[in-house]
Amino acid sequence: MFRRVKEILSGNVSGETKLRGWVYNSRSSGGIVFILLRDGTGLIQCTVKKDEVPEDVFKTAESLSQESSIIVHGEVNKDERAPGGYEIKAKKIEIVHKAEEYPIAPKEHGVEFLLDNRHLHIRSVKMQAIMRIKDAVMTAARDWFHKEGFVEVTPPIILKQACEGGSTLFKLDYFGHEAYLSQSAQLHLEAMIFGLEKVYSVTPSFRAEKSRTRRHLTEYWHIEAEAAWADFEENLRIQEELVSYICQRVADERAEDLKFLGQDPNYLKKMTTPFPRITYDEAIEMLKKDGFDVYWGMDFGTEEERQLSTHFDKPFFIMFFPKQIKAFYMKARDEKTVLGADLIAPQGFGEIIGGSERETDHRTLVERLKEEGEKIENYQWYLDLRKYGSVPHSGFGLGTERLVRWICKTEHIRDVIPFPRTPNRFYP
Ligand code: 4AD
Ligand code: MG
Repeated sequence: MFRRVKEILSGNVSGETKLRGWVYNSRSSGGIVFILLRDGTGLIQCTVKKDEVPEDVFKTAESLSQESSIIVHGEVNKDERAPGGYEIKAKKIEIVHKAEEYPIAPKEHGVEFLLDNRHLHIRSVKMQAIMRIKDAVMTAARDWFHKEGFVEVTPPIILKQACEGGSTLFKLDYFGHEAYLSQSAQLHLEAMIFGLEKVYSVTPSFRAEKSRTRRHLTEYWHIEAEAAWADFEENLRIQEELVSYICQRVADERAEDLKFLGQDPNYLKKMTTPFPRITYDEAIEMLKKDGFDVYWGMDFGTEEERQLSTHFDKPFFIMFFPKQIKAFYMKARDEKTVLGADLIAPQGFGEIIGGSERETDHRTLVERLKEEGEKIENYQWYLDLRKYGSVPHSGFGLGTERLVRWICKTEHIRDVIPFPRTPNRFYP
C-alpha cells in the first residue's frame, strides 16, 4: 500500500512503507543522498546511505534529477532534524520517469518567465498551499449555502445579453449571431428563484477589461447567489454570514497552509459578523476628510477603496451608490441612489462582493435598459420575470479570486488562479 506524505508526518505510520511522488530536490553529502520528495499532500525527506544499501540503489539515488517521478521503498523514522519531524530511510528507489533538466531551478526567476512556465510552476509548494486554501474557500461556500437552503444551479455561459454593461463584453460568433461570454450568472439566477427560491452558482465569469491592475482577471470564478423574498438588509446578512463562515473554516482547515504563506489563521478568526456598514455619502465624506479629491457621483477605484479600508479591520459594506454608476437591475432607493452595496476587504484588497436588491418594476427596467443603450428584445425573457408572479428579491456576486487573494495576501490576483487570463496572456 502506498502512503501519502501527510499520513507519515501525522505520525500514524511506522515500519516499512512505500511512497510515490516527485523529486523536489536532492543533494548528496558524506555518503548520504538527501531526497526531498513531494506528493500531493506535502514534502518529506528520504535518505539513502551508501553503506546501508546495495551499490545500484545508491547510484540511482545519486542520479535523480529535479522533478523525476519516483517510488521510494523504505522505513519511517522519527527524526527531529528532518523537516516535519519524520524521514524515510530508503532501501530501494524506482524511477518512474527521469525528468529532463527542469527549467525552474531553485533560484529567483522573473515574473514573466514563471508565467510562461505556469504549467510547471503550479507544482511549487506555494501554489499548492494557495490552491488548497481556494478549495477550502469554495467547499465552505457550498456548505454554507446548503446549510441555508440554497440550491446549486448551472446557468449558461454563452449569452445573448450583457449583465454588467457593454464595455467589458467578450464577443463571440455564435453561428452567425453575436453572442457574449457571461459576465455574471445573475440574470439567469433571477429566473431560477421562481422555482427554487434560493439558488447559487459557481461559474467562470469573463470581463474584457483592458485595465492591468493587481485585482482584475479577464476570466475569474464567480460565486453568485439570488434569493426570492430577500430584501436589501437580508442580502447583506447573507453576504456577511457567508464570508465570515468561509474565514472561520479556512482558519480551521488550512492553518498550516496559511502559516506557510506567512499568514496568521487567528486573523481570519476575527472576521465575525456583523460587518461594518457605511453609506456612499459617508464614504465620500470620509475620503474628503482624508484629503482625497472626490465628488458625489464618482465611482470608487483602487485608491479610494484602499483609503476607506484603513478605517476598518473587517470587510465592510458601502451602501446606496448613485444610480448612474451602477447596473440597470438595481432597485432604486430614491431618485438618485440604489439599494446596492459593495463589500470591501480590509487592508486595501478592494471590492470582493457586489450585490443589490433587484428592480421589480417592468417599466423602470425598460427605461433603465434604454438609458444604457441596450436592445430591449435581448432582455425580453428577463423582463417576462416581472410579469408572472414577480416578488421582491436580492442577490450578489463574490469574486472568488478577490477573496482568496485577501485571505492569502498575495501581491497579485493572478497568484491565486492556476492559469491566469489577463489582457496580455492566455497561454499556457
Ligand atoms: O460587481 P460585479 O460586476 O457584480 C456582478 O457581476 C453582479 N451581477 C453579481 C450579482 O449580483 N450576481 O462583480 C461581482 C464581483 C466583484 O465584487 C469582484 O469581486 C468580482 O466579481 N470581479 C472580478 N474579479 C476578478 N477580475 C475581474 N475583472 C472582476 N470583475 C468583478
Ligand atoms: Mg462591482
